[in-house]
Amino acid sequence: MSAQDTLKIIRDRIGDAKPRIAFILGSGLGHIAETVDGTAIDYADLPGFPHAGVSGHNPKLVIGKLEGVEVAILGGRAHYYESGQADAMRLPLEVMAALGVETLFLTNACGSFRADIPPGELMLINDHINFSGRSPLIGEPTDRRFVNLTDAYDPDLRARLSAAAEGLGIPLKEGVYAWYSGPNFETPAEIRAIKILGADAVGMSTVPEVILGRFLGLKCCAVSVVTNMAAGLGNEHISHEHTKASAPVGAAKLERIIRVFLRGLDA
Ligand code: HPA
Repeated sequence: MSAQDTLKIIRDRIGDAKPRIAFILGSGLGHIAETVDGTAIDYADLPGFPHAGVSGHNPKLVIGKLEGVEVAILGGRAHYYESGQADAMRLPLEVMAALGVETLFLTNACGSFRADIPPGELMLINDHINFSGRSPLIGEPTDRRFVNLTDAYDPDLRARLSAAAEGLGIPLKEGVYAWYSGPNFETPAEIRAIKILGADAVGMSTVPEVILGRFLGLKCCAVSVVTNMAAGLGNEHISHEHTKASAPVGAAKLERIIRVFLRGLDA
């Protein structure tokens, strides 16, 4: 199985359409995919796309137009914690690059460390800490593996997202996202430790995809939907059910920001 085989299956369905931006949607963030005018392909029909999945994700690739822009929306991701493979999203991202995608837009649910970014709000990721210590590029034999991650979260895209949020009056503070392996949530002691290291939020995804995205030459940006205060910092009982139930509040704001961001893309 290679990216080329999967690419051919997609090309047979979408012709020569050229999505510019690929979105990966996190838990409970799938609504926007339903509003795309285009072609939906089940991951099950795409060799190398994640099959098992996590509840709260919708395992479909949707390619079409959103606010007049050709996009590809990946309705779910494979997480490191499902298989122990940090490169689980490599083939789907290689396929995106081969389709002509230039920008990777990642979304996720996270636990916040900051009282000024409470549940229901969004955080624009400006950098990350790889607390898992894993890289999706381990085993990559070429010198391309030495990926530069300075400005991995593209400053121009961040500025555009901030401007879109400001125009809508939606708070969008920037912060550092720490990748924790999962699938268990963190202990309060781990959260205190990660906070001291300089993170503002924690989650179980996104970082390996940004590393792969930069490896493939894609510009990256990422927005977290805060579903809870991280362990030990809030009163809610942290659970996957809580994540799924809470995500739509922030997701609705994120969807509005994404629409304005897309409309202004060529400005
Ligand atoms: N920790 C890790 N991942 C998460 C959290 C959290 O508190 N909330 C949503 N995803």
